[in-house]
Formats: sequence, structure tokens, C-alpha cells
Amino acid sequence: MERRKLGLVGAGNIGGELANIAVSRALGDVVLFDIPAKETLCQGKALDLEQATALNRVTATVKGTSKFEDLAGCDVLIITAGVPRKPGQSRDDLVGTNLPIIRDVAQNVRKYCPDAFVIVVSNPLDAMVYELKRVTGIPRERVVGMAGLLDSARLSLFLSRELKVSIRDVKAMVLGGHGDDMVPVLSYCSVNGVPVTSLIAKEQLDAIVNRTRMGGGEIVKLMGTSAYYAPAAAALAMAEAFLGDQKRLVPAATYLQGEYGYNDLYLGVPVIIGGGGVELIVDLPLSDEERVQLAKSAASVQSVVDLVKRTAG
Ligand code: LAC
Repeated sequence: MERRKLGLVGAGNIGGELANIAVSRALGDVVLFDIPAKETLCQGKALDLEQATALNRVTATVKGTSKFEDLAGCDVLIITAGVPRKPGQSRDDLVGTNLPIIRDVAQNVRKYCPDAFVIVVSNPLDAMVYELKRVTGIPRERVVGMAGLLDSARLSLFLSRELKVSIRDVKAMVLGGHGDDMVPVLSYCSVNGVPVTSLIAKEQLDAIVNRTRMGGGEIVKLMGTSAYYAPAAAALAMAEAFLGDQKRLVPAATYLQGEYGYNDLYLGVPVIIGGGGVELIVDLPLSDEERVQLAKSAASVQSVVDLVKRTAG
């Protein structure tokens, strides 16, 4: 059987952690890509990781490169290219810097690996994945953004701490854009089926929702840069769902064509990811309040997408 090939575009903190998880789980051969100024960094990380395979007893190659053509034939691409947030910045503040980077990446994806399943992580997430899809023309089944799974992981952690229950039993769901007005959908959050709304008082739940919304910023404030362990774990979970045809139901930034009442917009919604990519968009019934929150989040995403569209060539 041929080994699968994963392309990681961006060899920063998330890229390095992605490569580490991919290799240690033997998901396939890894190509770690970054710009020419960072080629030796890519090569160094790649060699370090290959040496780790001797200890992990894993069969995989890791190649560091700044040549897009090395990404040809990738089954999965995870795109973290661009700059991360610094303290005081919102994700939307990154659009001016990251938009030209994503456009360049997209043109090369179209050229070298238009058949890959593409997971975008770069911020502002929903607008960047929108632009990548627009430039590459790849069908929506194969271009998703990673955000909801990370935001849901943060919500799960805070719920499990508040309740003092195992994180394994907490199921949480965050929809909408990957911004401060994301929508933690409490009606779908439970401890093995027991609704969290029946276990935690409203005041505590409100505080948890708020902390989740600011979850990325909390880490930026502490470290001076963006989170990377949980973002990498979340993106890899999506890649594994595709590679292993796992049919996982996860929230992902997905191109909507009428679902949830939105059109021509990427927004975090629950989807099934399997070997066909996004195999189904799950249209959940939401409460009126949740719909209002989703509309607010969608409007924020739309304003950044409008900006992106105005500068489209
Ligand atoms: C975060 C970045 C990855 O939320 O968007 O930490």
C-alpha cells in the first residue's frame, strides 16, 4: 500500500507541531513547506523529525522545502501560512498581511495539488478559507477551515473543569465564525448526553462562554503569540477523519450555499468528514437566540469577506 502524503504549508509553531503529530501517528510522509528565507529552518525541523522516527519506530519521511512543486501529489494540505496574532491584535487585524500570502499559496495549490483535501488554519480564518477556495476553484467538499473543533475543545475543557468531570465525557459544540462572536451552542453541549444547562448555573455558563470566545486571545496574551498545540491537534483530527474515512461529525468552517440561510460564505457549521471530504452539512435546529448569535457572527465574517472581495484581482 502506498503511504499517504501530507503537505504542511507554513513551518512555524503550528506547522512544526502538525508535522510532529503526523509523523508520530504514522499518518504518512510529510512535506514541510515555508518561504525561501525559512527553507533551512524547514530542513532542520524535517531532519529532527526524521531522526525521531528512529525512536518512535515509525516509517515516514519528512522533507523540508520552499518549493511548491514538492507539494505535488499531497492527499491533504494544512495551511498555516501567514503571521500569527500579537497581543492586542484581533484575528481580523491580520487580513492585510495574510491575504497576499494566502493568495500566493492558493495559486500554487491550484497548480500543484488541486486534488488535495485542504484544511486552512491561517487567520482571519473564515475569510482566508473563503479566498483560498475562490482562487483555487476547488469544490467545497475539499476546502474547509479549522476553527470550530478548536473552539469546541476550549469550551469542553472549561466545562469539564467547572463540573469536575472527565473531559472524555464532555461533548461541546461551537459554531459560527472564528472570532469573538463565535457561537457556543449550549443546547448541544452535554456530559455524555446530560445537558450542561441542567448541570451548571447560568452565570457560570455565561462566564465559560465568554472565556471560550476569548480563548485564543487568552493564550496570545500569555505567550506573545498564538496557540499551537491545540490548533495542531484539531487540524490533524480533521485530516485523520479524511484519511481514515472516519465520518466524524465536527464543526468546521464550510462554504455555505443556502444552509443555515447563508450563501457564498464560509461559516463554522457541523459537518461529516470522511474520505469524500465534507460529505454532509448537518442542518441543526437552533433556538431563536442561537440564530440571532449566528447572524451576528456571520455579519462579522461577511464584513471581512467583503474587504477581501473588494481587493480581488
Ligand atoms: C487560535 C488561533 C489558532 O484561536 O486562531 O488560537
